Amino acid sequence: MLSNKTIENIKKTIAKYPKKRSASMDALMIAQQECGYLTEEALREIASILDISTVQLNEIAAFYTMYNKKPVGKYHVQVCTNVSCSLLGAEHIVEVLSKKLGTKKGETTPDNKFTLSEVECLGSCGTAPMMQINDDYYENLTDAKIEEILKGLK
Ligand code: FES
Repeated sequence: MLSNKTIENIKKTIAKYPKKRSASMDALMIAQQECGYLTEEALREIASILDISTVQLNEIAAFYTMYNKKPVGKYHVQVCTNVSCSLLGAEHIVEVLSKKLGTKKGETTPDNKFTLSEVECLGSCGTAPMMQINDDYYENLTDAKIEEILKGLK
């Protein structure tokens, strides 16, 4: 169940748009910031506020990798595996992270500390390969850089 504060924030965001449904992506992100991921109940509540069907809202949530459909760890490690990053070794980056974190892509470590995900282009193609951990970008990744970044998170 969304908090009153989250509902209020969604309604404030809706006021910025000519149509309620135009605030769908913002509303999903506001809810995700509160809950960590988008539950079925949250989707139903948001859809109701936006006056659209849950199916329509679910289509948006399912299309974009930035929306979490299940719980994620304290650190959500999202590796871009789109074209530029792939050409510069994104698959290797995923393998290195998988080994170091002890989890497979799409999964969370048993202590709920790390979730490793593959995501679509994060708009930082010029600094590929790259990843996002929570709200921060880490670019021009190498094995050594990954080692250093993970040390800073433990
Ligand atoms: S392809 Fe990886 S950031 Fe664009």
